[in-house]
Amino acid sequence: MSQAPNPNATLAVAILSGKGGVGKTNLALNLSYALFRAGHRVLLMDFDVGLANVDVLLGLSPEKNLQDLFRPDVQAKDVMLAVEPGGFDFLPAASGVPELLEMDDDMREVLFDKLNAVFGSYDYLMLDLGAGISQTVLSVAAMSQVRVLVVTPEPTSLTDSYAVIKVLHTQYGVSDFHVLVNQVESPADAQATFNRLSAACNHFLGFTPVLIGGVHSDPAVPDAVRRQIPLLRHAPRCQAAQDIIGGAVKLHRVRQQRKDAIIAGPVLGKIPIIRK
Ligand SMILES: Nc1ncnc2c1ncn2[C@@H]1O[C@H](COP(=O)(O)OP(=O)(O)OP(=O)(O)O)[C@@H](O)[C@H]1O
Ligand SMILES: [Mg+2]
Repeated sequence: MSQAPNPNATLAVAILSGKGGVGKTNLALNLSYALFRAGHRVLLMDFDVGLANVDVLLGLSPEKNLQDLFRPDVQAKDVMLAVEPGGFDFLPAASGVPELLEMDDDMREVLFDKLNAVFGSYDYLMLDLGAGISQTVLSVAAMSQVRVLVVTPEPTSLTDSYAVIKVLHTQYGVSDFHVLVNQVESPADAQATFNRLSAACNHFLGFTPVLIGGVHSDPAVPDAVRRQIPLLRHAPRCQAAQDIIGGAVKLHRVRQQRKDAIIAGPVLGKIPIIRK
């Protein structure tokens, strides 16, 4: 059955990592901000159902969250908050809710039926995922159109990132990954880190990821976190903010390239069949 083009061509971007604490949430928030500032409609969704904290970075205390969507009377729009008027919205998650952490396929389907009703009105759906390889992280990453792996130059981050790529490839047949190298000292540092990961993927899996770029280690990032203000609002001219804006430009190019391929219907589709 042929489907009409999705007028908004919503691009679902999963932000994930192997190792925790590498900067996913800060990058998801500020990439979203940069895309909004560039005139795009963005929905930032906290999908770290273990340790949700986008709300903390925004200084917000949401009344409702993802968990409420399991109630029949609650719709996605009842849970969403506006970060900025005019097209930057946020969908909070809940911390320490075992049902969310252990969501089975049926629960995920209930959730995505409600979520897909609103996803289509955005240009970007940015999903901040938890670290590691839980089934929720893997299935949401596999369903997304773009997967951005956040890596740092630490060897442990590199090996854990390779593990995420490998499990998504072997279990879900995914071989399309983008990489953002965070907390670098220089562009050469970002490139060298990427090259090591890319060489391992090429050697053992037979494909290579795509580098989005590097984000400098910058004291303005923890400063913005402490103040609970997005970096792009707190220190828009700092090096890390400039790097993130550069990353958003690259992401937008990916959306432009894929626009025609993004079809109508659910933004996040059914979970692909797991290869045994
Ligand atoms: N470019 C950067 N420069 C300096 N500090 C950074 C940078 N990026 C992130 N950080 C710091 O790293 C810490 C972790 O960031 P963040 O919470 O975004 O990571 P995360 O990957 O989402 O963590 P988790 O796996 O727990 O969800 C924060 O305290 C933040 O201030
Ligand atoms: Mg996080």
